[in-house]
Amino acid sequence: MIVAVLNQKGGVGKTTLALHLAGEWALRGKSVTLIDADPQGSALDWSQQRARENVARLFGVVGLARDTLHREAPEIARTADHVVIDGPPRVAGLMRSALLAADLVLIPVQPSPFDGWASAETLALLREARIYRPQLAARFVLNRCGARTIIAREIAALAAEVARFAP
Ligand SMILES: Nc1ncnc2c1ncn2[C@@H]1O[C@H](COP(=O)(O)OP(=O)(O)O)[C@@H](O)[C@H]1O
Ligand SMILES: [Mg+2]
Repeated sequence: MIVAVLNQKGGVGKTTLALHLAGEWALRGKSVTLIDADPQGSALDWSQQRARENVARLFGVVGLARDTLHREAPEIARTADHVVIDGPPRVAGLMRSALLAADLVLIPVQPSPFDGWASAETLALLREARIYRPQLAARFVLNRCGARTIIAREIAALAAEVARFAP
């Protein structure tokens, strides 16, 4: 499966979620490759730092911050159980490419109106991608927010509302 962790906004937790998801799958015995599609290369930096410190490698990280991602990701997926794409902020071309490659899109959001507005742009790109790929699944992931809090309930209700208008 190819999972793309996307949100136009920076700092919402894309890299954190992508690394944890890849790590969790690897610990369960799956072969995983993480594609760092962010030109800033935070996931690559993380992986290189671990190599320097001789920490055991859980999964491979490759840097692929280019618009040909939609052709290259399925190639990589052929030799792995799962591919996780750590998406870029802002770059619409890269984001479109990731949306063309993915089976599932995860959109991390934090409980703030700023995140809501940025997610609207991401949802517009998602809607566009679904013209070509109607089966493309997408889910919001509430980040940095206690699951049982009032704000979590409010944001979940808001996300459900948004998803109804941008299914
Ligand atoms: N659930 C979380 N709890 C605490 N800190 C978090 C959490 N998710 C992300 N962060 C922190 O927030 C910052 C931004 O996260 P990052 O994954 O780099 O976001 P993005 O990739 O969307 O720019 C980082 O310093 C990261 O350690
Ligand atoms: Mg990132």
